[in-house]
Amino acid sequence: MKNQQAHVILILFLLFINTALQLTAQNIYKDSSVPIEARIKDLISQMTLAEKIGQMQQNHLSKKNDEVFNEIKLGKIGSFLNAGDINDKFELQKIAVEESRLGIPLIYGRDVIHGFKTIFPIPLGQAATWNPEIVKLGSAAAASEAAEVGIHWTFAPMVDISRDPRWGRIAESCGEDPYLAAKMGSAMVEGFQGNDLSSESSIAACAKHFVGYGAAESGKDYNTTIIPERYMRDIYLPPFKSCIDVGAATLMSAFNDINGVPASGNEFTLKRVLRDEWKFDGFVVSDWASMTEMINHGFCADETEVAYKSVKAGVNMEMVSQSYANNLEKLIKEGKVSEDLINEMVEGILRVKFRLGLFENPYKQLKEKSQTLSAEHLTAARESAEQSLVLLQNTDDFLPLSKLSKTIAVIGPLADDAQAQLGCWSPDGDPENSITPLKAIKQLLGEKTKVIFAAGLDNCRSTNTEKFAEAVTASKAADAVIMILGEDDLLSGESHSRAFIDLPGAQEELIKTIAETGKPIVLVIMAGRPLTFGNIVKDVKSILYAWHPGTMGGPAIANILFGNVSPSGKLPVTFPRTVGQVPIYYSHKNTGRPPSENQLGIKMGTPENPVGFASYYLDVDYTPAYPFGFGLSYTTFEYHDLKLSSNEILMGGKIEVSATIKNTGKYDAEEVVQLYVRDLFGNVTRPVKELKGFKKIHLKAGEEKVVTFSLSTGDLAFWNIDMKYAAESGDFTLWIGGDSQKGLKADFKIK
Ligand code: BGC
Repeated sequence: MKNQQAHVILILFLLFINTALQLTAQNIYKDSSVPIEARIKDLISQMTLAEKIGQMQQNHLSKKNDEVFNEIKLGKIGSFLNAGDINDKFELQKIAVEESRLGIPLIYGRDVIHGFKTIFPIPLGQAATWNPEIVKLGSAAAASEAAEVGIHWTFAPMVDISRDPRWGRIAESCGEDPYLAAKMGSAMVEGFQGNDLSSESSIAACAKHFVGYGAAESGKDYNTTIIPERYMRDIYLPPFKSCIDVGAATLMSAFNDINGVPASGNEFTLKRVLRDEWKFDGFVVSDWASMTEMINHGFCADETEVAYKSVKAGVNMEMVSQSYANNLEKLIKEGKVSEDLINEMVEGILRVKFRLGLFENPYKQLKEKSQTLSAEHLTAARESAEQSLVLLQNTDDFLPLSKLSKTIAVIGPLADDAQAQLGCWSPDGDPENSITPLKAIKQLLGEKTKVIFAAGLDNCRSTNTEKFAEAVTASKAADAVIMILGEDDLLSGESHSRAFIDLPGAQEELIKTIAETGKPIVLVIMAGRPLTFGNIVKDVKSILYAWHPGTMGGPAIANILFGNVSPSGKLPVTFPRTVGQVPIYYSHKNTGRPPSENQLGIKMGTPENPVGFASYYLDVDYTPAYPFGFGLSYTTFEYHDLKLSSNEILMGGKIEVSATIKNTGKYDAEEVVQLYVRDLFGNVTRPVKELKGFKKIHLKAGEEKVVTFSLSTGDLAFWNIDMKYAAESGDFTLWIGGDSQKGLKADFKIK
């Protein structure tokens, strides 16, 4: 009897232990003290296949209804983009967390590209600051404003190298250069994500569009790209690598066909490079239906093949289309896709959800006192805009204008267009918060100066010249004319490519008409891309390029025009003289017949007699209108004393390169000191120049500073003839200067 009792007790005890163990096992993924990898493992082990596939689906929330609620309950959705306001987000999250079997939180994504409510300059403008610190600040401000309304994840930064101004998405990019884009893109990642992804003010970044999207043939959006592997690795991939190096949580696979294989089914880029070589452990989301569009590309016959090719390549999450949801289970049953691969895909997604702290804090929201549109954010947006403005021309030092001017005419359809200045991809920006240039100029000048405004045109695209007369009258009454022209926000961004990149509508005609009054003109151009304006440069004294400068664009422009701040922006992209020169970029190859100086100076559109057989045009200079890195200041800078710690670097070693920069003018100002290198001979040909360093420095009038760069042989590596990433011994030239064309020059060798 006693024995029997002991037996029962033992069984009960074992049962108890078993249940306790099971309970603990079940709760491992919920236990924040357990390392993330163990939590992921535990959670995956408890998920059904359907739940795993559910995590791989991202939906756009068009409306909330029972069907949506039910899908969340069944664990069929892992993420939403554009999930409504904070209440909508909480409502859906509550279902996910409390009513789905495992309570896996949803992750909410949104395009927070260059600001949320406080809109900063478009990314191309931010790149023109050449100031990673201010770029980081801008993204941190955007993150905190977005985090206030429960956004967890932004689809930025966009680090597509863009060398074609026809492409509307150049506005969203950091320009043409891999080095600059890498610095700017990674600064954005750091700004969005902060030091700790789980902090309430951090949102996950998404480096996009992986990869090569900016190389769209003929600048037409979504177009085919043909990028040899060496160019892919030397030019298009490095900015993504830099974003990953600073911890970018996610990536987005692009729309484009790369050498015959669309980016969202591309095993070379997504698997070999991203996973095998770079060891990326976050997740990849497809672009909007970019997976199912592989049917249109002619790469997949149906959605089953789409799911197969995308999952094999390594797209973890499908944005909007549903090929995974509808096909993965079947593919697994048929043995074409293994559940291990699905586990791997889901792990990446869960890892980011854990890192964001969503399991502990599914209703994650920045709860501190609201920073949205705070004085601090607005100041940062203004400073970012100020630093983004590029002074392209300043004949007779016409700018800055005197604050004592009696009458100023402000002309142009963009002078008081609160929406246009926000630029593309600012879905949460409210024009009500914009301070326009007209408003800011009036504010800055006060009562003593009369400011007369005439739009001249209904909008920047208009060809109706009826309102010219009013603009002429205003100009005649003024001491100086400020014309604010360019492109409105509609003319750039996704699917907004242009074949002509001059001032649209009758704007050139408007400039000519105002110039006939004889009044000096300052031209401020807002645009989402480099524009060509060859014919009108002589009609105006000064040209200030303002991109789309954001909420605080007006005060930034006014501060520069009237000399409160000296311009310090530098071009992140080469400006062509005419669209026929595109693609034109500073780091081109030399060719076998580089043009010589006597092939310069050909007037636009007038074919000359051939003067030799060289790589140039008969009807336009081969040089750009404004080179990469270019931008004037109100002061002058003198570069001298270029010093190299040695003229030889041993392979694996480094040298210090320095120059002294003196502010020789009358204004305190900032200068971007740039270091370029040319590898003279390689086992594959090398570009005529490559940016290898830059520093933005502040110099008071008369002040000088020594700027030092460290240059290692690693910095000079490239993908060589054997497709090895290595520097080669031999001869090099370097330049330190204020743009990509001029600079102090020295030679050195790698031994
Ligand atoms: C764009 C992406 C964007 C996504 C979500 C797509 O059309 O290409 O850049 O993040 O939409 O809005």
